[in-house]
Formats: sequence, C-alpha cells, structure tokens
Amino acid sequence: VDGIELVSDGQLTTCTHLPYEPFQFREGEEIVGFDVDLVDLVAEDLGVEQAIVDTPFDTIQSGADLDTGKCDVAAAGMTINDVREENIDFADPYFDASQALLVAADSDIEGEADLAGLRVAVQTGTTGQEWARENLPDSELVTFEDLALLTAYVQNGEVDAGINDNGVLYDFAGDNPDVAVVAEFDTGEQYGVAVRTGNDALRERINEVLAAAREDGRYDEIYEKWFGT
Ligand code: ARG
Repeated sequence: VDGIELVSDGQLTTCTHLPYEPFQFREGEEIVGFDVDLVDLVAEDLGVEQAIVDTPFDTIQSGADLDTGKCDVAAAGMTINDVREENIDFADPYFDASQALLVAADSDIEGEADLAGLRVAVQTGTTGQEWARENLPDSELVTFEDLALLTAYVQNGEVDAGINDNGVLYDFAGDNPDVAVVAEFDTGEQYGVAVRTGNDALRERINEVLAAAREDGRYDEIYEKWFGT
C-alpha cells in the first residue's frame, strides 16, 4: 500500500504484551482495548485487517520484535522516551500517563515515603520499574513479567505495593475493591505507537490517521468507550 510494506501481506501485524487492560487484554477469544481500537483505524485506512501478536514487553521496547519483522507496529501502552527512540521510531503521542501506587485496600501505605523496607512489585522493562529503581532505593523491588501477576501479588499480600501506569491501575482498582490506588507520581509520560527505525512511510501514515481521528471525533469515541464513566 503506497510505499508501505507489511511483514505479512494483507494484514497489519501489531506486537503487544497482554494483559494491559484497558489498553489491550483478552475478552473471551478476542483481544480488545484502547490501543486495539486505535490501531484498527490505521489498518482500516490501509485496507487491511489488524493481526495481534502477544510478545514479552521487553522485546517490544528494545526494538527486537520490530527489527526481526515479527510485526509492523508495536502498540502496548508504551511510553515514548529517549532510550527507546534509539531503537525504534514512535508516531505522535496518543495518551498521557503517570506512574501510580497500588496497595491493599486495608494497607496503611499512603505514598512514596512509606515504602522504605517494603516489597514493591514492578513490571519487567517498564518505565515504572525504572522509576522505582531511581526513587525507591530502600525498597525491595520484586519484578513481574505481567501486570496480572503484579496485581495478584498485591491482592494476596505477597508484596506490600505495586507500581505501574495510572490508567491500568485505576482500571484494576475500579474492578477490585480489595485494592486501591493511593498515590500518583507525575512522570509526564506519553504513549506512542512504534515502528521499525526508518519506517517513515508507516509512521507518517499513523500520524495522519491519528490526526484525522482526533479531528473527527473517533479518538474521543474510543476514549469514551474505554475510560468513560
Ligand atoms: N508505559 C509503560 C512503559 O512504557 C508500561 C507499558 C507496559 N505495557 C504492556 N502492554 N505490558 O514502560
């Protein structure tokens, strides 16, 4: 399609890491979420279907999956940052995020200052892990591959707290009254869809679709669908 070469003919292949509700997660047989709907707009514009591949977050953010042709785009609630920009190219930002602190609903923990000497769960390869390494030198960081494991360990009390992006943790706490989000750390993050370094044709096409969707209300509809009350 117009100078855009896809790794599999007739489909836009997306690498993501599940589950990351409400951005990407399984609902029965289907993979759904905010990012899924957004990338569907790009696929639609290209006249193809989106095919989603579930892969570790670490090889998404390192650029390995895009470089080896596992997928055309990566959409994983992934924060744009300088280190990642060295290995992948990001389209324009599509979502704002910060880090947040999840604890058991009956916990006394109220914020960063209460975490010294405690076990804090973080997710492999994420900005939350990075934030915790820099800001919680006196905590024991326990690393999980998946968000679902991280939240399960907060629920069962095997860790004292968990750190991850605000959107996913508020969503989880909304569904699970035994936990609560008690603090946010304003890291000023923005999510971007990524392509292989140098794939400007696809990156620019994503930017055009994103701009059009913001303009004509489709972005707001998707936002409302996943974050509306
Ligand atoms: N926004 C964070 C980051 O970019 C976390 C993303 C995790 N995404 C996922 N699908 N597991 O590091």
